[in-house]
Amino acid sequence: MSDGVGILLPGQADFAAWRQQARRLLAAGVPPERVEWRVLGDPPGLFGGAPMPAEAAPVTASVPRAFLEQVEVAIRHRDPERFALLYRILWRIVRGEHGLMQVATDADFIRVQAMAKAVRRDAHKLHAFLRFRGIETEQGERYVAWFEPDHHILEAEAGFFVRRFAALRWSILTPEASAHWDGETLRMGAGGTRAEAPPEDAHEELWRAYYRSIFNPARMKPDAMRAEMPVKYWKNLPEARDIRGLMAEAPQRVAEMVARGATPAASRRQRSLQPQAAPEVALPMPADLFSRTEDPAAALAALRAELERRNDLPPWTAAATQLVFGEGPPGAPLLFVGEQPGDEEDLAGRPFVGPAGRLFNRAAEEAGIDRPAAYVTNAVKHFKFKPTGRRRLHQSPDAGDITYYRPFLKREIELVGPQLVVSLGATALRALTGKPLAITKVRGELIETPDGLRVFPTVHPSYLLRLPDPESKAREYERFVTDLRAAKREVA
Ligand code: URA
Repeated sequence: MSDGVGILLPGQADFAAWRQQARRLLAAGVPPERVEWRVLGDPPGLFGGAPMPAEAAPVTASVPRAFLEQVEVAIRHRDPERFALLYRILWRIVRGEHGLMQVATDADFIRVQAMAKAVRRDAHKLHAFLRFRGIETEQGERYVAWFEPDHHILEAEAGFFVRRFAALRWSILTPEASAHWDGETLRMGAGGTRAEAPPEDAHEELWRAYYRSIFNPARMKPDAMRAEMPVKYWKNLPEARDIRGLMAEAPQRVAEMVARGATPAASRRQRSLQPQAAPEVALPMPADLFSRTEDPAAALAALRAELERRNDLPPWTAAATQLVFGEGPPGAPLLFVGEQPGDEEDLAGRPFVGPAGRLFNRAAEEAGIDRPAAYVTNAVKHFKFKPTGRRRLHQSPDAGDITYYRPFLKREIELVGPQLVVSLGATALRALTGKPLAITKVRGELIETPDGLRVFPTVHPSYLLRLPDPESKAREYERFVTDLRAAKREVA
């Protein structure tokens, strides 16, 4: 092992540096077992000063994009072995095991997948359970939050909070690192301590009151609650202080509800099997975290957080990776509603980034629509699918699913305040109008809903993707672009 190579990476989750070093190692023909990976600040390693051998041959084999995407996420895992594992997989791929990422039983592959999943879950928890607390500073109000992630995720996830809370000034403190946004620039800094984050303030009382008001004792599922909101995070959540009490008093409250004639959970679930009769979720206006700012972006973030923490979501949502909420600027003149996130959206956590999304972007551009200036969302905000082998097969949401998400969609639209809502496909149209209308009958006609929304129905882009022959594809694509142009004229 005396000819081993020591690699020093500048950061715990520095994908670019790992990639650069891995390329050099491959080119020099250094096998994985001869490499020792360390991160700046680690104790000295066995091969501390050993130089990288000269490059033997440039690396020509191509590496599947799916693998690099997994690496980019898995590298944030806290396991110190991750750099070595990832390099070993890379080595194996480049040395001929091109289909490695498809071998579901390969131990290395299984491990990297589990790492990426753990990192995604950690990011999801950060999004859902971070609580900002407002403090007054000389420069005005600032929001500070404390969080203890399991993995090295803060830098990668800070952009999420920049997008959500662009108009505010905030800091996120974690034991390992901190992120600071001043309204213009994001700065990463050293770790902090819990004591540096401000203690509770008035917003927390609002959260707690809100949580108590939405807690439905008849729908309490303690295991699901613990899985969704692990006890570990409770200490930072103002509402968590109430959970034990609310759980303890739940049986008594259910008995009282039954005595008053309210419908307990079990029979309600049966009724929701009758799609038309499914009741809408009562969605009280959250006394949200940022109510002082009256910032619609913050109110949208609070709405998203509310949906993320629901304990009465349709059961199939447990299989989805994450919630996929709408995206775009509040005040967008055009708001597009699709059906539900697909496979790629589910992994990315963003709407319309898969094949249908790419087709939609192309058509929107051709129609002269400024896509980043539009808001894009879905009627149903989780990916519903059937696992079949390695693929996850899209399943259409049913009427009960549409009804469940409808109040969230309505509130989301209200907060964005568009001039026109474009419904893409039948599910979106049903969610917006509450009726199962045939697209073929109403396509391109402006509909005014009882809530005063102006809705412009057209087809879903995935309909175009499913058309079998090139002629009908081209013809229908042109029709779709024509519809989008007409929608754009409505807001011009
Ligand atoms: N299809 C949809 O309806 N929405 C998405 O976000 C992606 C595909």
